[in-house]
Amino acid sequence: MAKTIQAIRGMNDCSPTESPLWQWVEGKVRSVLQNYGYSEVRMPIVESTPLFARAIGEVTDVVSKEMYTFWDNDEQLTLRPEGTAGCVRAAIEHGWIYNNEQRLWYMGPMFRHERPQKGRYRQFHQAGVEVFGIANPEIDAELIILTARLWKELGIDQHVTLQLNSIGSLEARKNYRSALVAFLQQHVALLSEEEKERLEKNPLRILDTKNQALQEVLNDAPKLLDYLDDDSREHFTQLCELLDAVGIPYEINPKLVRGLDYYNKTVFEWVTSALGAQGTVCGGGRYDGLVEQLGGHAACGVGFAMGLERLVLLVQEVNAEISLPNAVDIYLVYQGEGTTLAAFQLAEKLRTTLPHLRTMLHCSGGNFKKQFKRADKNGATLALVIGESEVQNQQVVVKHLLGGAEQQTLALTDVVDYIKNHF
Ligand code: HAM
Repeated sequence: MAKTIQAIRGMNDCSPTESPLWQWVEGKVRSVLQNYGYSEVRMPIVESTPLFARAIGEVTDVVSKEMYTFWDNDEQLTLRPEGTAGCVRAAIEHGWIYNNEQRLWYMGPMFRHERPQKGRYRQFHQAGVEVFGIANPEIDAELIILTARLWKELGIDQHVTLQLNSIGSLEARKNYRSALVAFLQQHVALLSEEEKERLEKNPLRILDTKNQALQEVLNDAPKLLDYLDDDSREHFTQLCELLDAVGIPYEINPKLVRGLDYYNKTVFEWVTSALGAQGTVCGGGRYDGLVEQLGGHAACGVGFAMGLERLVLLVQEVNAEISLPNAVDIYLVYQGEGTTLAAFQLAEKLRTTLPHLRTMLHCSGGNFKKQFKRADKNGATLALVIGESEVQNQQVVVKHLLGGAEQQTLALTDVVDYIKNHF
């Protein structure tokens, strides 16, 4: 036998038994976003490498170590590691945000060369939202409120908590950065080699260190919130007031800075303790300078993205209520002279007259016993049986596969009405 070829590490298939749950989760995401008036956009999976370097920042982990980059003749391209950069690029390119507000969403695969583990993959899927042209905190609140509604819809709201922070203006962060570096220099012995490097390039990222001893010391470090400019402080206060008003609890986490460089003012993450180490199911914030930084007319922005693998895992873990539909409602079995044509005709008639039902035709031959086994395997509610005598008499036998109702023989002309009443 020829040697088999396997999927790339950290890149998963979605099996026919897993896809119903994925579709259910994606359907909830779509309907909540549509109900809030957001419009879908679709961007390419591959973009020019400098887009990500400029948008996300050269010194971030994503750009410095995790991108899948390759040469296409003399152009360097990258598989998108996230959706914000491409969405901003498209919005500038097509003038979507020129003197205009936009509330956009997208869904699709992203790629990061990280070490795979539960909840962390090299190809993963995000649903993301980007809003352009709205400066006030009402929109930050709306984004958080709509995610909270989605968690309810998914049945995971008791298992996620909201972490909130403001990282202020660029100027405020510069001042804070000096204070933080001065503080950390007194504790340099606690820093790993990587953290020493970060101390020079991106010291704020040290705030979310996994090193326990350093975490304790950081409790006494200067707080970013104490360095905020007035505008950011006011923005944050108003956001908190709005969340209080609609009853969304949050925890202010002064160490939350996020791993991408484009943020200012509001940053937030929804986290769970039910998934082990990879507990952030959704993260986002404001990025008021990014559009201009990528060459567009100045326009503020705010958004978030959620990891669909993590949401699917969490739903599996905590939502026992969810019942996914069977693959089919009606399964047609047939055997003998003239039955194939009759079965095809009936199946098409059902699909035309009762399009909301899922009707499956057996197709692969064999005796009735084998065909009924297939019907059961597909979770069908009813089997319609056509043998030679049924063809001759213009009849169909209806067999109830779930529940114990008696099987019945119906005139062909009565089948549609019977099924309509049954479902
Ligand atoms: P991010 O925090 O890098 O933000 O990713 C958002 C979410 O994607 C994470 O919270 C996590 O659920 C999921 N995720 C990230 N990496 C992986 C991975 N390797 N495997 C599985 N899931 C993962 C962004 O990407 C920003 N673009 C969000 C944003 C939009 N900010 C403003 N607008």
